[in-house]
Amino acid sequence: MDICRISRADRDEGSGSSHSDAWAEKKKGFMKESKQLVLKAEGLTKWFGEGAQRVAAVHEVSMDLYKGEFVALTGPSGCGKSTLLNMLGLVESPTAGVLCLDGVNIATACAAQLRESRRSRVGYVFQSFNLLSTLTALENVMVPLILTGGDRAASEVRAKELLKELGLSHRLHSLPATLSGGESQRVAIARAVAHHPRYILADEPTGNLDSAAGASVLELLQRIASDGTAVLMATHSDGALRYCSRSLQMRDGELVDC
Ligand SMILES: Nc1ncnc2c1ncn2[C@@H]1O[C@H](COP(=O)(O)OP(=O)(O)O)[C@@H](O)[C@H]1O
Ligand SMILES: [Mg+2]
Repeated sequence: MDICRISRADRDEGSGSSHSDAWAEKKKGFMKESKQLVLKAEGLTKWFGEGAQRVAAVHEVSMDLYKGEFVALTGPSGCGKSTLLNMLGLVESPTAGVLCLDGVNIATACAAQLRESRRSRVGYVFQSFNLLSTLTALENVMVPLILTGGDRAASEVRAKELLKELGLSHRLHSLPATLSGGESQRVAIARAVAHHPRYILADEPTGNLDSAAGASVLELLQRIASDGTAVLMATHSDGALRYCSRSLQMRDGELVDC
């Protein structure tokens, strides 16, 4: 089911105890299916600064991300979660290591190909939403569609459909400053999925939300993953783990066994 086809009834159905049963069934189904590798990192390392000031923010991280997964990335503040997400999102270039997207080593890509991959394959969700303040909710969701070559009218139709499915029809023409935190994050998620990316990177997406709004964002990310878009989410919240299909733990720049 595509996220743009989710009805309110479908979403409401996800809030009770039957939701966790349904999710357990989905997880089992997923395990049975042959896994499709979206992203593979080997020995990914990032240093900041020079000489004595040098900080190894991420050190030799190896991980896979598969279609349909919702993976939590946990660990204390400063352990390297955002830096890792930024490398996986092609925002930061690694100091060392290999990153393959859909089997292609990004080291072989030129700057224009990297920019194109970043725009078309990745969706980003941030703790502070990062909506463009002078654009309406609708226009914010249209941005990635237009940047990936979409025609304006078709982009508007897709953005309206998505916002409607996320219960934001009445907010289409609202500026970000007038939206609640939960509404802002749902607009940001609509923007992240609008162009059908291969994976979503969510950096502490519930960090600025109350628990009800946070739960609805986690349910939404879970559903996006089960619809086929891999989701990797940095989080501090233990409560978020029950929405995820597995978790990775970081400490001092490295992945550790949970
Ligand atoms: N642009 C940067 N320049 C220098 N140091 C950085 C930069 N970004 C992050 N760091 C350092 O890298 C480490 C990991 O940071 P970060 O990835 O933000 O961790 P987390 O997201 O887990 O809180 C921290 O020590 C941080 O101070
Ligand atoms: Mg961070």
